[in-house]
Parts: sequence; C-alpha cells; structure tokens
Amino acid sequence: NLFWYTVCMDKREAMKQIRDEVLALTSSPLYAYRTENSYIPVIGEGSHDTHILFVGEAPGEQEAKSARPFCGRSGKLLDEMLTSISLDREKVYIANLVKDRPQDNRDPTPEEIALYAPFLDRQIEIIQPKVVVMLGRHSMNYLFKRAGIEDKLLPISKMHGELFEGDFGYGKVALLPLYHPAVGLYNPNMKGVMFEDFKKLEQFK
Ligand code: URA
Repeated sequence: NLFWYTVCMDKREAMKQIRDEVLALTSSPLYAYRTENSYIPVIGEGSHDTHILFVGEAPGEQEAKSARPFCGRSGKLLDEMLTSISLDREKVYIANLVKDRPQDNRDPTPEEIALYAPFLDRQIEIIQPKVVVMLGRHSMNYLFKRAGIEDKLLPISKMHGELFEGDFGYGKVALLPLYHPAVGLYNPNMKGVMFEDFKKLEQFK
C-alpha cells in the first residue's frame, strides 16, 4: 500500500543521499587515493528492511574496485558463515565503518573513523536493525561508544560471540561483536569458534 511504498522510497532516497555525500567527500584523507586508483566508495548493500545489520571495517581492494562490501576473500568466508545458518545475504544489510579503502589495507586512523562514522550512524537510523553485528574491533569500539555501552568494552578476544544491549536512539538494540572474517583467513584454526559465534544470529532471522 501507499504507506509502505512511501517508507521504502524514503529509505532508498536517504541511502542515495549518503552515497552522494560520500562521493563528494573531497575533504577525506582517502579521497586522493580513491581517485588515483579509480576506486569507488563502498556504501553498503542489502535489504533496508532487515533486522540484521553487519558492520565491517573498511573496503579492501576488491570492494573498492566494485563498490560492493565483502566481495573478496573475507567476503567468501562471510558468505560461508551466512550459509551455515541459512541466512540469505540479500536479506541482511552489510556496511562498513569507513567507506573508502585505506592505503594497502592499513587500519583506519581515528580521524578517518570520525569523518566516516556519521554516515554509518545515518544508515543505522534508516534501517533500525534489531541486531548490529560488528565484524572486528574497529566497528566494535565505535559502535559500543555510540550505543552508550562503552563501559562494556574489552579486547575482542573476550567479547566475540556475546550479545550485548545498547541504544542508538530508536529503542533497545542487540550488539554482537564477532571476529573479522580476515581472522579466519590468517588463522584457519579460528574458524570453528567463528562459525559457532555466528549461530547467535539465528534468533534474529
Ligand atoms: N573487510 C572489511 O572490513 N570490509 C569489507 O567490505 C571487506 C573486507
């Protein structure tokens, strides 16, 4: 009906607005690297009506070339974990904390995080997920602060696979910190734990 059509179009427009603003972000320290390499910012992909939002760190090379999140080697492992709990990738939304690729996959700087995080804040506001899944410590550290539960922060080795409760301004939300999929690529013996942690998402499907 017209009500839901309007809601959907508003979400799409709001997401497009974010894309346009990031495309025009000439003030970013990553802007020159983007243009020199013909990289494209990676805003995010998936359903705007999902209960489940994944937040990675920043695009890698494959992602920056294609504008799609988690489409390289880490993405392949993420896809395997989604399949393991019969969760369709199209039914969730996948975004990153930082929207442009940092040089040679280095960690994003605090300045870069501060510059890009407000776009993620707006994506959370648009989607209003029931659970935010943080892939890696950068998105975990930022989103725990943003959700007002900074006091719960410990190293990710102590928090992975545990559900927390926070608030992004529209009500109570679950937060699930997980190891970044790249961990499983460097350390195949971690995969067992990572697949086990993923099962915590079944209840939100
Ligand atoms: N790693 C991330 O954190 N995000 C991506 O989109 C790909 C790899």
